[in-house]
Amino acid sequence: MRSRRGLLATLLCGLATAGSLGAGSAHAQQRGSGEVVVYCTVQEEWCRPMMAAFERETGIRVAMTRKSSGEFYAQIRAEASNPRGDVWWGGTGDPHVQAAQENLTLEYRSPLLAELHPWAVRQAEQTNYRTVGIYSGALGYSYNVTQLQRRNLPVPRCWSDLLNPAFRDEIQVADPNSSGTAYTMLATLVQIMGEDPAFTYMRNLHRNINQYTRSGAAPARSAATGESLIGITFLHDAVTQKVGGAPVEIVAPCEGTGYEIGSMSLIRGGPNQENARRFYDWALTAQAQAIGAQARAYQLPSNRNAPIPPEAPRFENIRLIDYNFARWGESSVRNALLERWGREVRQAPR
Ligand code: F6P
Repeated sequence: MRSRRGLLATLLCGLATAGSLGAGSAHAQQRGSGEVVVYCTVQEEWCRPMMAAFERETGIRVAMTRKSSGEFYAQIRAEASNPRGDVWWGGTGDPHVQAAQENLTLEYRSPLLAELHPWAVRQAEQTNYRTVGIYSGALGYSYNVTQLQRRNLPVPRCWSDLLNPAFRDEIQVADPNSSGTAYTMLATLVQIMGEDPAFTYMRNLHRNINQYTRSGAAPARSAATGESLIGITFLHDAVTQKVGGAPVEIVAPCEGTGYEIGSMSLIRGGPNQENARRFYDWALTAQAQAIGAQARAYQLPSNRNAPIPPEAPRFENIRLIDYNFARWGESSVRNALLERWGREVRQAPR
């Protein structure tokens, strides 16, 4: 994904073609056998129906576990001499890019690449086809309207508003070591503000954080129940709460914000490589990508023929930065940012 305008064009093009779901069945193949081990990094509510649909369609059994982006990156790295997983499906692109760079994942050019938006193909091109874009979504936050009004607090609109001392202990966000969402926030702030000012901002924000969660979407649930006033997450995770009836409003910060290209990779040396490629191709079909919205996951799908859920936050309504996925997924850059975050933010006095 190169520029905001390019992204917009591809999304509008996706809209025009949305609705024709025949592509998936065109790729249906003969029944398979055996199993495939899938590491899943979306919400459990989407992992489960996705795996069940693949099993139904192919006869291949799926052994699935669910963890956050940084956790699976660390696990795949730790298992490199004896890989247990076959496919890593979902999670933010940065750790997939890092895994590709560290030769932990396999080059594969799926025939389905021809059906994808240019931003998803670009993710593949930038990594020598070791990862591919499967969805995208913008970062922001949600706030609990009932609690905010009850306490007569100002409505936040920007990143800077989150530093208001009135929000002390009222904001939740994940830990960027485990969570790709929180790493996207870290890299986004550095891209918007420059590195030193971004770290100053995060140290100040630290005073208002009540908990750094493991999973990126957890703060949206916390804001939905009113346990926290504000949850920083991808906007689509907050939409899931709103659609479920929670009294939350969703904010795309006024200074601009980053976004993810959720990705998928084949794990080098995985035990079931043929079935892994079968899963990979299937997961790129419009038919498979339509399962997300049915599971209340409101990302923008990467297959041009997959329907865009009407509830999905649209990029044309958000001030997006030109997020540099190659740079912020680069091993040394990601490691250095995480190390600095641990030292300067996590340990900072409150
Ligand atoms: O809940 C879904 C989601 O937000 C995906 O869009 C994203 O790739 C993933 O979670 C990130 O999860 P985490 O921040 O826990 O790594």
